[in-house]
Amino acid sequence: MIEINGCSKVYRSRDGTREVQALDRVHLTIAEKEFVALLGPSGCGKTTLLKIIGGLLSWTEGDVRIDGKKVTGPGPDRALVFQNFALMPWANVLTNVAFGLELKGVPKEARTGTAMRLLEKIGLAGFESAYPRHLSGGMQQRVGLARALAVNPVTLLMDEPFGALDAQTRRLMQDDLLRLLDQEPKTVVFVTHGMDEAVRLADRIVLMSARPGRVSEIIDVPFGRPRPAGYDSEPVFNELKNYLWEKLKAMQTDGGKVNGG
Ligand SMILES: Nc1ncnc2c1ncn2[C@@H]1O[C@H](COP(=O)(O)OP(=O)(O)O)[C@@H](O)[C@H]1O
Ligand SMILES: [Mg+2]
Repeated sequence: MIEINGCSKVYRSRDGTREVQALDRVHLTIAEKEFVALLGPSGCGKTTLLKIIGGLLSWTEGDVRIDGKKVTGPGPDRALVFQNFALMPWANVLTNVAFGLELKGVPKEARTGTAMRLLEKIGLAGFESAYPRHLSGGMQQRVGLARALAVNPVTLLMDEPFGALDAQTRRLMQDDLLRLLDQEPKTVVFVTHGMDEAVRLADRIVLMSARPGRVSEIIDVPFGRPRPAGYDSEPVFNELKNYLWEKLKAMQTDGGKVNGG
């Protein structure tokens, strides 16, 4: 369980003269194996909150705990997936996927086995010797996802992972992610500014206000996982999207940006 209790974050410039309050007393509890989407306008602190959960960033007020233990840094229980894939360009697909296992000291044969199994699962069998630059964006993000899953984390922290992909590839990736989670359930915190994406994927949608980011509203998505056939043709699917759209539109401030879809 992830517990975020009154978490605030103020960024300070190096000389201490400028401050940006990115988060303002965020309260949020995420249960194990729950899929939570963080939805909000750009600049509202979604990435900041994700990095805090990931142990990559400190907070300035409040408390962040995982299974009762205060977060003090990154750990093998949490794996990150970024929008820009963040693959090692000089290493082939297999090495990229096995990287986290190498850090954990897993022997070569075992980590190759795990990486190959994941590549198969994610539709990249046969590409293990390819280099990231030779792959499409969708394939690169499959590698990013396989790398995150390789260490068998409890929690996946995903920062607009499909944001750089074209609409069709994004939809395929969304379906694949849900399929993978169905096979191997995990806690997922998924940052997005896409309403459609949030409704398709999440159990709960945490709507964040424009900066400083606060939890504005938490919405239970009325569809189970795996999603029932035809759920996206039901009126409630579009009703929920429209509701989120209206909420996001209303909270637009300077610099805020909302993408449809
Ligand atoms: N390292 C930093 N130093 C100063 N301000 C930052 C830094 N990182 C982010 N910010 C500011 O904090 C706010 C929240 O950023 P971010 O968490 O990236 O938002 P989001 O992911 O929702 O777009 C933004 O106004 C951003 O400009
Ligand atoms: Mg961001």
